[in-house]
Order: sequence, then C-alpha cells, then structure tokens
Amino acid sequence: MRIERTLISEEEIATRIADMGAQISADYEGKDLMIVGVLKGAFMVMADLARAITIPVEFDFMAVSSYGAATQTSGVVRILKDLDTEIEGRHVLIIEDIIDSGLTLSYLIRSLRVRRPASLTIATLLRKTGIQRVPLDVAYVGFEIGEEFVVGYGLDYAGKLRNLPYIGILDESSI
Ligand code: IMP
Ligand code: MG
Repeated sequence: MRIERTLISEEEIATRIADMGAQISADYEGKDLMIVGVLKGAFMVMADLARAITIPVEFDFMAVSSYGAATQTSGVVRILKDLDTEIEGRHVLIIEDIIDSGLTLSYLIRSLRVRRPASLTIATLLRKTGIQRVPLDVAYVGFEIGEEFVVGYGLDYAGKLRNLPYIGILDESSI
C-alpha cells in the first residue's frame, strides 16, 4: 500500500480543526454539549477537535458498521456499540471523519432522533462534494474533497493506515 500524494497536510488539518473548535465553542456557549464520536474512523478528529473546544463538554462514542462486505455503503447500518448515556434533552453533536454517500449518518441520525435530544447536529472533517445520496444537514464541514479514496487521520483502507497524521490519496495500483 502506497500513498500517491498528500491531500491535506497535518498543518492544514490542525488549522481547520482549531477554527471548527472555536466555532463550536461559540455556537454552544451556555449549553449542555455532548459530543459523540463515530468509531473507529472519527477517533482522531474527536481527540483533536475536543481539545479545540473551550466550553465544558461530555463525551460518548458509538461504533457502527455497514452490513456485508461490499465496499459501497448499503445504508443498512449495524450498531456495534451504542451510546452509554441517555441523550434526551441534551445538545448532541455527532463527530464524523468523512461523509461519502451520507447513508451511514442518515441512519444514525434517524435512530438518535427518536431519543428526543434537544438538538442533534453533525460535524465532519471531510465531505465528498456532491455525491450524497440522501439529504443531510451538516453544520460543520472541515474540508470538501473530491471522490478519491482517502486514508489517514483515522481513515482506513482495509483496516490499515489510520495512523497517518495527514490525509493522503491511496495509490490504487499498489493494493
Ligand atoms: P457513507 O455512508 O457512504 O457516507 O460512508 C461513510 C463511511 O464510509 C465512512 O464513515 C468511512 O468509514 C467510509 N468511507 C467513505 N469514503 C471513504 C474514504 O475515502 N476513505 C476511507 N473510508 C471511507
Ligand atoms: Mg466513519
């Protein structure tokens, strides 16, 4: 597995995450904020973004996986780990690494909304521009990217490369 090129450098990520953290801190000032990281991909964004948030915040995590072995999301999502806490009446901000078709988050939003949080909002580091198959209201987007398959900073290819400190484009001829 080889990286063809760097798409977003470590420095660019850090700068953008700092901006997002400041924005979120301002928007949720005085509110009871709970951030929910979607495992595994979002662990790195969660750790860095949380440190850029300057208001009190609680953490929780969910783990999801798409059914089957298909490389394309089917939209049918299995919850591998649910939230530990009740979210009724809480301001919930879901933290994602990437939105591709949007099917995973759309499912997640639907299953969390019935628990009646005070608000339910999405922050994602990356969004593939214009290819969402379902309408999804995303309040915070780090970077709009193209359709290429990206790895690093939490994102994997076949379970690997999550530990790269930057976002890279995978050389598909090397896999
Ligand atoms: P969606 O349901 O199509 O929006 O897919 C979202 C999930 O697919 C993400 O949470 C990632 O786990 C995975 N994914 C989509 N695009 C990429 C990519 O370019 N690199 C790595 N994982 C990706
Ligand atoms: Mg993910």
